Amino acid sequence: METLRCWTSPHGYFILMFLTSISKGSTCQAPSSPQCFRQSVQETIYICEWDFDTDESDVTFELYTNDSTVIERKCENVKEKYCTIPEECLIVGIDVELWVEANTGDSSCTSPRRTSTLKNTVKYKEPQDISLLWLKNSLKLRWPAAEDNPAVADVWFRQNEHPTETWEKRLENTTYGALMHEVVIENLLKTSAYQFKIRHQSTTAKNPLWSNWSPVITVPAGLEHKPEVTSTVRLENGTRRVELTWKPMSHAATITGVNYSINDTQRFHKCPCMKQRQVSNTKNSVIYVSLSAVNITIIAKNAAGQSLPAIIQEPAAIPTDLKICSETRPHMKKLRKRTCLELYELKNEDLIPEKIIILKQNKKQEKRPKEKQLEDYIRYLYFEHRCDGGKPQTVKMCLFYAKEGVPQTKPKDFMASDETQNSAKLSWKPILYEDQQGFHTHYNLCMVKISSENDIKECFNISSSATSYQMENLTPGSKYNISLAGATRVGEGPVASVVISTWPEKPTNVGLSLGLMLIFFLLSIMFTVICKRIKAKILPPVPAPVIPVFDIKKQDSEVIWERKEEVHDLTLHQLFPEQRYISEETTLLQGESDGGTNMEKEKYSSDSEGSNEECVSPDSNQAQEEEEMTAIEQVDTVLAMLTYRNGLVFDMKTQHENM
Ligand SMILES: *[C@@H]1O[C@H](CO)[C@@H](O)[C@H](O)[C@H]1NC(C)=O
Ligand SMILES: *[C@@H]1O[C@H](CO)[C@@H](O)[C@H](O)[C@H]1NC(C)=O
Ligand SMILES: *[C@@H]1O[C@H](CO)[C@@H](O)[C@H](O)[C@H]1NC(C)=O
Ligand SMILES: *[C@@H]1O[C@H](CO)[C@@H](O)[C@H](O)[C@H]1NC(C)=O
Ligand SMILES: *[C@@H]1O[C@H](CO)[C@@H](O)[C@H](O)[C@H]1NC(C)=O
Repeated sequence: METLRCWTSPHGYFILMFLTSISKGSTCQAPSSPQCFRQSVQETIYICEWDFDTDESDVTFELYTNDSTVIERKCENVKEKYCTIPEECLIVGIDVELWVEANTGDSSCTSPRRTSTLKNTVKYKEPQDISLLWLKNSLKLRWPAAEDNPAVADVWFRQNEHPTETWEKRLENTTYGALMHEVVIENLLKTSAYQFKIRHQSTTAKNPLWSNWSPVITVPAGLEHKPEVTSTVRLENGTRRVELTWKPMSHAATITGVNYSINDTQRFHKCPCMKQRQVSNTKNSVIYVSLSAVNITIIAKNAAGQSLPAIIQEPAAIPTDLKICSETRPHMKKLRKRTCLELYELKNEDLIPEKIIILKQNKKQEKRPKEKQLEDYIRYLYFEHRCDGGKPQTVKMCLFYAKEGVPQTKPKDFMASDETQNSAKLSWKPILYEDQQGFHTHYNLCMVKISSENDIKECFNISSSATSYQMENLTPGSKYNISLAGATRVGEGPVASVVISTWPEKPTNVGLSLGLMLIFFLLSIMFTVICKRIKAKILPPVPAPVIPVFDIKKQDSEVIWERKEEVHDLTLHQLFPEQRYISEETTLLQGESDGGTNMEKEKYSSDSEGSNEECVSPDSNQAQEEEEMTAIEQVDTVLAMLTYRNGLVFDMKTQHENM
């Protein structure tokens, strides 16, 4: 029955028999004996192949099998050099003989017979759709498996630069999974391009046949480095135009072509524009991004893998005059089409987000942050983006708090310094951003004069950026309680206070005045001493010392006093006789004429005086001495007077001192 089902034409049998008898003994080139197999162990279709060399175009083949005794025709009038037969038309479990007959016009010839058990013969299809991937210095080859079983692969390869070299051969057990065969060829040069061809065979079939060879594959070298990319950014009305330029990769890596895939995090999040694959095979590309922070990734790809990504990080383009949002809950507003919101959670003073929340319109239900999603007392940077003709555009940026509080701490290190009668300097450290809990708008500075009477509190605002303040117009000699608190739009936070005391009106410091008095006292003593010294130098006690000097240095002094006598000659005149007076006068005149205090002259004069003594009686001598004493005293008085009155006499006195 089985045979009948496959028997295409009962009449053919007779024709076949007839043709067979004719072909016997013909001289044509015989075809090779047919090889029949299935393409996997599960397959129920058998393929029989054979070779036949001929120039003739009009050749038909017939395939015969002998089922023990009966010769059956399986394929007739086949123009190709193979035919497919369903399992049920063949006897596959036992050895059968198979042969092919080629008919060319008027002649026919028969191939040798081949005996095999068809069931055991498995020949896979040649490997197809081979994917390549460079690992370190190994190449991973993957292709779809013919069946759910491992296989053996015969891999031949050579370097692409040396196509005439003989093939290097590797026989590998494939690892397989997900209906894919996979082999890893080790010890290759990743920097070099290769040619590969592969065939494989079953490991489970009893009689496996090698598959045909795959076509020769050119494997480019691995893309070892990430692309060297430079970017230039231009701001255009809420959009940033980013031009990316990169250096070409190595020739060996680009031998079968290379693509650059460009992605950015904004498109990845579809905010505001939809994701679209950007691929470039040139050496530059332009993309547009919104003003929020974006990471742009450029990856080079070739047939055997991809490079590491080159990442361009563009921080958010935040304007310097960033404002506080006019709406209190900007994140709750209704979103338009192709609009998305981005919220940066700012836990620090800088505008680098701790977390990014993206809100976009969802077709089914609008995605909204639950109240809980935004934290209280945390600042958020709000972005509103719109996709405008494929270009993302930022239409709004501002700062807000989901809920604002008052500062958590008081200004630190609040203190006063440089107090004077009516001023003092206050200084403090700013309230840390983490403690502000809202927009720190100002400081509230209050002062209360501490007195027995009613305390009047005076307050004023100080810039939130200030860290010092000069208090002026204070009352001297008073105490003030000064307090300072940071304030947000909601209110002010804890108060730091300091008490300052201004100086009294007249700074009569006891210590200082004592010191001053002491200094004054010392100064006056010093002054007195100096005056006395000067006085002693300028005005020596003239009368007293003259007499002893006169006595001791009688001879020396005598001359002087004799000279002085000249001034008082009138006084002396009555006491001495005329001659003597004259002689004396002469002596004096002589001395004067010499004009100096020559010692010889003085001697001479004293001699003359001695001679005078001889001429005078002892009594008179005594009297004369007394008289002289009186006269000298008189002279002294006058001299003293003169010294004070007459510059000339003063000079003489100086001369005397010099002696
Ligand atoms: C493949 O695996 C079999 C069994 O594990 C082993 O006998 C054979 O040597 C392996 N062939 C190759 C080429 O590694
Ligand atoms: C950008 O702004 C300029 C000037 O403000 C304007 O002329 C130009 O049309 C704007 N471009 C776009 C794309 O909106
Ligand atoms: C960009 O990449 C850096 C580093 O991986 C990451 O910290 C940052 O969050 C990324 N920025 C964006 C906008 O995705
Ligand atoms: C200080 O500033 C706040 C807010 O700006 C204002 O409400 C308040 O009246 C100001 N106080 C004084 C004393 O100026
Ligand atoms: C100063 O004033 C603050 C508040 O205004 C108060 O807490 C503090 O006790 C006062 N200090 C003194 C010494 O009065």
